Amino acid sequence: MLRRLHPEQPASFEFTPANLEWAKAQMTKYPEGRQQSAIIPVLWRAQEQEGWLSRPAIEYCASLLGMAYIRALEVATFYFMFQLQPVGSVANIQICGTTTCMICGAEDLIEVCKRRIAPTPHTVSADGKFSWEEVECLGACANAPMAQIGKDYYEDLTPQKLEALIDAFSAGQVPLPGPQNGRYASEPLTGLTSLTGLKGSGEDLNVSAQRARDLGETVRRIDGTEAPILTKWLRPSQSADQQEGQDGRPGQEPAAAKPVVEAAAVADAGKVVSAGDKERAADAEGSSVAPENDKEDKG
Ligand code: FES
Repeated sequence: MLRRLHPEQPASFEFTPANLEWAKAQMTKYPEGRQQSAIIPVLWRAQEQEGWLSRPAIEYCASLLGMAYIRALEVATFYFMFQLQPVGSVANIQICGTTTCMICGAEDLIEVCKRRIAPTPHTVSADGKFSWEEVECLGACANAPMAQIGKDYYEDLTPQKLEALIDAFSAGQVPLPGPQNGRYASEPLTGLTSLTGLKGSGEDLNVSAQRARDLGETVRRIDGTEAPILTKWLRPSQSADQQEGQDGRPGQEPAAAKPVVEAAAVADAGKVVSAGDKERAADAEGSSVAPENDKEDKG
């Protein structure tokens, strides 16, 4: 499937302060000059902020990580988890259309989406609340047909049950995820015939569904308020600085990635030479230049 940027793009994109703090913390996971390794989580957070990835968002993430726009664009267009067009404000409903789900009725679920949301996938409904798409196997084949809505799976669906889910989400409710036909998990509908003692400890819900009910945030987007930003991978002195910043007191900003023009240079045959490549080349030439971490280890 050809994945292109949406023809209508916003003028700009910027992380919220909380998301920028989170993104900079992710960048500290990688050695200096390798910040582009954080591209997938940073793009994901941009998508969580806006609901989809616009061109300004992709370019913003590339600049933040000191990488060429085209490199970030390659990642965003390669992975289907990145939405390149606006999605519904409540949920983008992902119907599994692979073999097991197709045999068990996925096409009927897609008909519901066409009728209730929009005739074509990747199109926002008239009320702006929903969009839908067909996706490949989501790994819940024993509970086919199923759909992913927000962060959770809704399994053992029928067209009527999917319509009821859409109604509930539209009314601001968060329907209970998991099997929708009374099954505990993926056991036979007629009940367990072996290992009969393994069905929880009398709980009504399996662990996943129970957790989803406890959290109640199936379609809520991540906005940086869910958990404190912990950077335990930093060395004690760095970690202290980082944690200090989280408390609202002055802290040391993580080292920003070098701008593209500084971190990379175009060498022969148009090859992009990253800061890491330069470092390795210096090592090969017997240079004494060594990564900061190596210096600390030897000390
Ligand atoms: S075929 Fe639908 S979850 Fe595997």
